[in-house]
Amino acid sequence: MKAIRITSYLALTVASSFALHVMAQPPKHPPHRPQHPPHPPGSPPNGVKPPQFGDPLPGLTKAQVATFLDGKDDFEDTETEAGGLGPIFNRSSCVTCHNAPVTGGAGPINVTRFGRTENGVFNPLAALGGSLQQEMEINSVLHEVVPPEANVVAHRNSTPLFGLGLIEAIPDDQILQNVRRMPFDGVLGKVSKVADAATGKNLIGRFGWKAQQATLLSFAGDAYLNEMGITSRLFPVENAPNGNAQLLAQYDTVVDPEDVVDPATGRGDIDRVADFMRFLGAPPRLPPSNSAAAGRSVFQNTGCAVCHVPLMITGPNKVNALNQQEVWLFSDLLLHDMGALGDGIAQGTADVRDMKTAPLWGLRASAPYLHDGRAATIDEAIKAHDGEAKASKDRYLKLNKQQVQQLIDFLMSI
Ligand code: HEC
Ligand code: HEC
Repeated sequence: MKAIRITSYLALTVASSFALHVMAQPPKHPPHRPQHPPHPPGSPPNGVKPPQFGDPLPGLTKAQVATFLDGKDDFEDTETEAGGLGPIFNRSSCVTCHNAPVTGGAGPINVTRFGRTENGVFNPLAALGGSLQQEMEINSVLHEVVPPEANVVAHRNSTPLFGLGLIEAIPDDQILQNVRRMPFDGVLGKVSKVADAATGKNLIGRFGWKAQQATLLSFAGDAYLNEMGITSRLFPVENAPNGNAQLLAQYDTVVDPEDVVDPATGRGDIDRVADFMRFLGAPPRLPPSNSAAAGRSVFQNTGCAVCHVPLMITGPNKVNALNQQEVWLFSDLLLHDMGALGDGIAQGTADVRDMKTAPLWGLRASAPYLHDGRAATIDEAIKAHDGEAKASKDRYLKLNKQQVQQLIDFLMSI
């Protein structure tokens, strides 16, 4: 590690066109939720700069903005071998994979997961270095490969981190409310249950393509270890290249945990980077064109909003900017059986075909789409939906050209 720094809407969730069928269903959201329009009104008042990707959350205190900037430095820092990088790793800084269009965004880099499925049972091949491959190393003898035992190989696209503090602040019970007892439009959904490393609690997962982490601090610790090979108090054990402990011992010369905690503050890189992500603002919405406004109804009528739930609200939070705030994320944060779109990797309580509903906010800046980045366009991403999303996808395929354009204009504005 480097030297210690001392400075340290409510949109209808179901289609109006099949509202009749809904009557028998309990209302999906409690009626007290605010019914605000999903977009900010037209242009901001004179002299006020409209929010940009990468801005901190509006309403942070000066001290919180300083914490945000401090964490951003760590997020952008390039780690070195002397500071604990490796022995095996994927890249040497967070920003390498999270930079589009600005620091904290998505990125074109995929990581690789592997495993073996036999008689329907998934084995992450942990003893052989799975399920995440580290494709780089401080010395070529350590090079990790996908072992021949693997019969499942999946790629995972880097996701944007905008607004994650708001997502973290959504109470578990709100996510639970999205689970259906009876399938509706083919959709059930289930929560991802996570034993959270940072809090020691059992929490509902919400980060990652499989909702595999529940808190930003845990994700930061996980990423420092698994993407950069930097151990921390939360994740103190290095990854051995393809499970080879001897090789690891030979090349792992930096004392663990490598993330040095500042004795004055008790905080390390994982804490500062978690705060950067926590205070990173949501993707800015664009004022809707007429077409985008029409597309909002297409979105609902096609059944997209059954999973891509437009709005959730954060719970009470000691950070004002995160306290009882609207989160226009367009996700229920649940796992769904996506049929052929599943990535074949079981992770936590997510089974091989389960994927978390991807939040749709900020889509205009996060192409390519889907967990492996296979879809260059939104149209391709929708056409790949399967499993619980098949009914909705089939309805999409029947839309006329104008409705498709409206839907895409809507999705590009949120
Ligand atoms: C090699 C590329 C790479 C590097 C380096 C990297 N990430 Fe990521 N990041 C990814 C990928 C790929 C995903 C999606 C992973 C998944 O769900 O399996 C991801 C997902 C995330 C998520 C979850 C986002 C969400 O919306 O659910 C967080 C948080 C995150 N990364 C933080 C970090 C931090 C912090 C660092 C640096 C310590 C970092 N990442 C370094 C590739 C990278
Ligand atoms: C059953 C729940 C469900 C329904 C219904 C559904 N989706 Fe999705 N959607 C998902 C899941 C899960 C993912 C992540 C899939 C993956 O990549 O593995 C996703 C991903 C996406 C993505 C890619 C996001 C990204 O960041 O890569 C887009 C775009 C999208 N959905 C749009 C739609 C639209 C438009 C509709 C309606 C026509 C729709 N979805 C209906 C569950 C659903």
